[in-house]
Amino acid sequence: MSADPPYPQLKKTHTMAHTGRPWRDYKPPPSGPVWNVIQAGNTYWMLVAAIDLGVFDALEERGRQSAAALAEPLKVSAIHLQHLLDSMVTFGFLDQLNDQYELTETAERYLCTNGPASMAALVKVSPGPLENWIHLAETIRTGQVAAPIEDDAAGFYGPLVQATFATQLRVASRLGLRLGWQRLPGLKVLDLGAGRAPWAIAVLEQSPDATAVVNELPELIGLAEATVAERGLGARVAYRPGDFHSISLESAAYDIVALGHVCRTEGPDQAPGLIARAVAALRPGGKLLVADYFADNDRKLNAFGVQMGMTMLANTRAGRMLTHKQMVEWLSAQPLEAIRLIEPIGFNLVYVASKRY
Ligand SMILES: C[S@@+](CC[C@H](N)C(=O)[O-])C[C@H]1O[C@@H](n2cnc3c(N)ncnc32)[C@H](O)[C@@H]1O
Repeated sequence: MSADPPYPQLKKTHTMAHTGRPWRDYKPPPSGPVWNVIQAGNTYWMLVAAIDLGVFDALEERGRQSAAALAEPLKVSAIHLQHLLDSMVTFGFLDQLNDQYELTETAERYLCTNGPASMAALVKVSPGPLENWIHLAETIRTGQVAAPIEDDAAGFYGPLVQATFATQLRVASRLGLRLGWQRLPGLKVLDLGAGRAPWAIAVLEQSPDATAVVNELPELIGLAEATVAERGLGARVAYRPGDFHSISLESAAYDIVALGHVCRTEGPDQAPGLIARAVAALRPGGKLLVADYFADNDRKLNAFGVQMGMTMLANTRAGRMLTHKQMVEWLSAQPLEAIRLIEPIGFNLVYVASKRY
């Protein structure tokens, strides 16, 4: 029998003597990971409540406040609000000192409605319909999703693309600076599944006299039209509403084709065909852009990518986890070269590839 180690919090498996998984230790593992997952569901709803009540915007407007002082303008119960604020402190969204609460930089940037990279609206739409999560076991048993977002594209994607536009415009604009669109006048861009068209808009705003063809489902194309018009770019854009798998596309006509966050909902059955259509529309030397949230090839190192894959499985008929290996295979099967992966802003990856001459 070996003695307990001097530092009980360091399990024996944290030594070089134990390698490989799975393994068993002399001591049972802690239950913390299970509690973490239980709490994770609750913490999401705490954040939703804080956003719904306007906690972050109120603190931005009024500055440092106690729970009692803030409860008044928010018209809520002070002791209940205090619990919510304390929870936000545990997430790193608020700081608290002497019962005064104030926003952290994270909250200012991502959780205030007017934050420079606000995710306030995204928090509610990103997981997809709650019903799908409640029925996840059934989905896995049967392979059938309770409320696939494909059946209510306008209901799901309308709020989603409103919420993600600012971030995706920043990703696309930073990418454009890296690729030198400002020095390439007259670029012709095709934006497939455009949402509010952040990818087309970034090209139009950087490349003098550039023109764009913007595709979106008919029920959502109005969002792209309104956004393009707001930015005074209407004269340089043509719209092609319809299903990107079947709309007619000119061949070898475009300098840039963008697939912005569409491949993971198409999954391995449909994404390669969509990529093939996009590449066919590129002129030789033109660039394909594929932005998405990818999982690592072993499906265990990048928790965000793996869990995003689960979100696709839970909410769509076709969507699946998308690994870098898959994407590189799909791109390599096309007449593409110089396949690169660029991270224009943190957390957002874009494959860029050139069509061969
Ligand atoms: C996650 S959003 C991405 C929007 C935008 N490209 C971006 O990067 O922010 C996916 C978009 O693809 C559109 N979409 C989904 N299926 C489509 C289809 N079959 N044909 C055309 N657009 C489609 C959705 O309506 C939605 O606006």
